[in-house]
Amino acid sequence: MIISNANSRLLSDRIAHRLGDELSVPEIRTFADGENYVRLKKPVSGKPVFIISSLFPDPDRRLVETLLMCDAARRGDAKEISVVLPYFAYARQDRAALEGEAISAGVVGSALRAAGAGRIVTVEAHSGLALKALAGTGGKVYDVKATDAIGAAVPALVGKVDFVVAPDHGNLYQAEAVAKILGVDVCSFSKKRDHRTGEISTALDGNPSVRGADVVFVDDMISTGSTLAKAAAILRGRGAGKISAVCVHALMVGKADELLRSSGIDRICGSDTVQNAYSEYSIAQEIADVL
Ligand code: R5P
Repeated sequence: MIISNANSRLLSDRIAHRLGDELSVPEIRTFADGENYVRLKKPVSGKPVFIISSLFPDPDRRLVETLLMCDAARRGDAKEISVVLPYFAYARQDRAALEGEAISAGVVGSALRAAGAGRIVTVEAHSGLALKALAGTGGKVYDVKATDAIGAAVPALVGKVDFVVAPDHGNLYQAEAVAKILGVDVCSFSKKRDHRTGEISTALDGNPSVRGADVVFVDDMISTGSTLAKAAAILRGRGAGKISAVCVHALMVGKADELLRSSGIDRICGSDTVQNAYSEYSIAQEIADVL
């Protein structure tokens, strides 16, 4: 049985359809004091259960909902509980960069295990360290890769592409893989972040001939949009043609849309790991394959 939180319905429907499995949407509401209430509506006894729960928007609330869904499935005697986190929040803090910091990725894993989760499935988790922290809590962890889905979606989403662009080196492997699928060149930016101020500086690597070229940024996520906006402004300054962005998780926080469009990006697409107006392609098949 597939159990979906409210903001993963689109993806959960698609996964259920591919697996030929039953989808059950639990009752989730908020008490007057702000606490979450969760009740599974269908019996799970003896059944393998897949809880599909994207931890965005409002990651704290989504995380507690997910924990409560796990606990309810365990109490209902589910045969096994797999938790799919299409967007794995709290993966940014994957190591203690400064003295006194927590490692939130591990905390999410420990909490899920304590609530009854067996296998945990993420999609393009923010970093290998975050996955390591998750795996360190015991049980199996799978990180679904979106590269093939992006490669297949780009032509229909943005049309002609001359360059795939990695906005930083963390995602260069993915940009290279998508470029290979599309049979085009890749270029990249080097990004440096000051851990104390959060200030980001970015520079184009080498001297690619982007004048007049149609380019697509490929990234794991767009949050505030500042990483892509800085890189796009540089490409625009060098005379690039059409600039698009295809990411996996389009969080698009605050004024990200405005910022990206004013930097010259005129097409912004995300997948259905985060369900919003930018969800233009699906990772359902890749998740279904793992499940
Ligand atoms: C960074 O490592 C990621 O790949 C993204 O580029 C980054 O998280 C995007 O964040 P923002 O949109 O806030 O710059």
